[in-house]
Amino acid sequence: MSGLINGDIMYRTHTCGELRASHAGESVTLSGWVNRRRDHGGVAFFDLRDRSGVVQITINPDLPKETLDLVEDVRFEWVLQIEGLVQKRPAGNENPNMETGEIEVIAKNITVLNPAKTLPFMVSSDADLPDENTRLKYRYLDLRRERLTNNMVLRHKVIKFMRDYLDKQGFIEIETPIMFKATPEGARDYLVPSRIYPGQFYALPQSPQQLKQLLMVAGMDKYFQIARCFRDEDLRGDRQPEFTQLDLEMSYVHRDDVLDLVEGLFTEMIPAVAPHKKLLSKPWRKISYREAMEKYGTDKPDLRFGMELQDVSDIFAKSEFKVFQGALSSGGVIKCIVAPKSADMSRKEIDALTEVAKSLGAKGMPTLAVTSEGVKGSASKFVSAEEVESLKAKVNAKEGDLILFASDAKAIANKVLGGLRVWFRDKLNLADENLMAFAWIVDFPFFAYNEETKTWESEHHPFTMPKLEDLDKFESNPGEVMSDAYDMVCNGYEMASGSIRIHRRDVQMKMFQMLGLSDEEIKTKFGHMLEAFEYGAPPHGGMAPGIDRLVMLLADEPNIREVIAFPKNQTGRDVMADAPSEVEPKQLKELQIKFEQK
Ligand code: AMO
Repeated sequence: MSGLINGDIMYRTHTCGELRASHAGESVTLSGWVNRRRDHGGVAFFDLRDRSGVVQITINPDLPKETLDLVEDVRFEWVLQIEGLVQKRPAGNENPNMETGEIEVIAKNITVLNPAKTLPFMVSSDADLPDENTRLKYRYLDLRRERLTNNMVLRHKVIKFMRDYLDKQGFIEIETPIMFKATPEGARDYLVPSRIYPGQFYALPQSPQQLKQLLMVAGMDKYFQIARCFRDEDLRGDRQPEFTQLDLEMSYVHRDDVLDLVEGLFTEMIPAVAPHKKLLSKPWRKISYREAMEKYGTDKPDLRFGMELQDVSDIFAKSEFKVFQGALSSGGVIKCIVAPKSADMSRKEIDALTEVAKSLGAKGMPTLAVTSEGVKGSASKFVSAEEVESLKAKVNAKEGDLILFASDAKAIANKVLGGLRVWFRDKLNLADENLMAFAWIVDFPFFAYNEETKTWESEHHPFTMPKLEDLDKFESNPGEVMSDAYDMVCNGYEMASGSIRIHRRDVQMKMFQMLGLSDEEIKTKFGHMLEAFEYGAPPHGGMAPGIDRLVMLLADEPNIREVIAFPKNQTGRDVMADAPSEVEPKQLKELQIKFEQK
């Protein structure tokens, strides 16, 4: 029961979605929106909706005239209060598609709590979805859709499960500031100008990384937070400028302690919150970064299907095919994937796919189609019968398969074939959408070389611990240094990343220096971290799964905007409130901010 107005109206005794056959014979009061209406032989039927679901209200012609007159006016999305009697539907009239489909509520009295203008779009069904900006402009209406409401409920369940699970494991939730100092995660910062300190800025955290490490120095031992993060970076379907992480950190742990905890959480959570989803394996696979790149061409592989990349350089070592020869003689590789049942792809389709390969960096895309009349395709003229036989045996190609090659520097060949592999997944429906193929990617390189700036950058973030046995390669051979970092992947997405952290001042200092920071920069940007490490910092590590991406996969949504209540659009605008927007000149003056040009 909820909501007394002026002490005399009781809005509801039940919610719409909770009524079942066991309620038959009860008088109930409901409040909700008119989801649909139908008129049939003098009887009107409303579907009344609230967050819990929809129930059929039947309005018989024997009601008083003023009630019937009022019913005439009622339109979609009016807010009504209905007093009525729950009744089992006559045999044969049940609706198995509605949770409340066994019953109907025979209206006795109807009160209009609030009428509604005609909505800019229908919310009772997903047919005729308007364009996304219109949906986002009226997000408070869009969220009334069953699908989006369910997404919000699922998100709540996921977060509640995380909180309860971690609480049981001895974690405590601690909030960290939103107005802080730059915490680099590889994106641009959002800055907040200070009025009290003109010319100075807070930065919104790209993640609570430094703060959670400082909480370990503070002795909090096992911390977590449902943390909002802010990053000014290029947007994609799985990226928003502000998003939510399950951020966690633990003291006195090694890599597998962190992985076991998070794997345990996810393995219990998925069946509890999304029972239709299956886990690919228990325990999850651990795949090294190198193996992931070799077999899948990416460090976020989709493991729901095969089509692994295979290195066939040895078979073509003496090839007369110039393209293959060229790649091998310049130190590259010849790799391929085998697409099942694709030997009959048309010229047009192959051309379109070649463009995909080119967009990923390939110069071309040689193919061999295995048919009953031998091999066909663009490479067929240049390969010997012997090579074909060895190839078919090595990559296990059968009649009807299409073999696609990339011959190039290894990194490019991997990228191209990794992209084509995903293209075939979508074309041939190779991945079971109810499968959650979680895996850990481990043993990342510590540094990545930036060809443009000719500098070493941290592959993860600068607080990640290098493998101790590689410490002496820091200067002599940075490319060989491995890190104690790990990612969680699922179905082709990076779901989480984390690492064991540096807790020694000298190692952290060396790391900053390797990244090209001057002593002055180190002091002003990270002085507080280095100082903290001098006061007995415990060894620690942690990770941060992205909550938006997880809920997106569990809800079978194509992007994370569908699982965020008020997301920014694809160009980073809040089109509902129209933000970002200009501010009052007075505010700028207070902040002592002037624009050079409009
Ligand atoms: P990282 O930057 O890899 O690591 O982020 C961790 C996870 O957060 C999610 N994520 C995002 N989700 C939506 N929109 C974005 N723009 C976005 N960026 C990241 C992803 C990603 O795997 N501090 C470290 C974690 C750690 O080391 O503990 C960090 O933030 O799911």
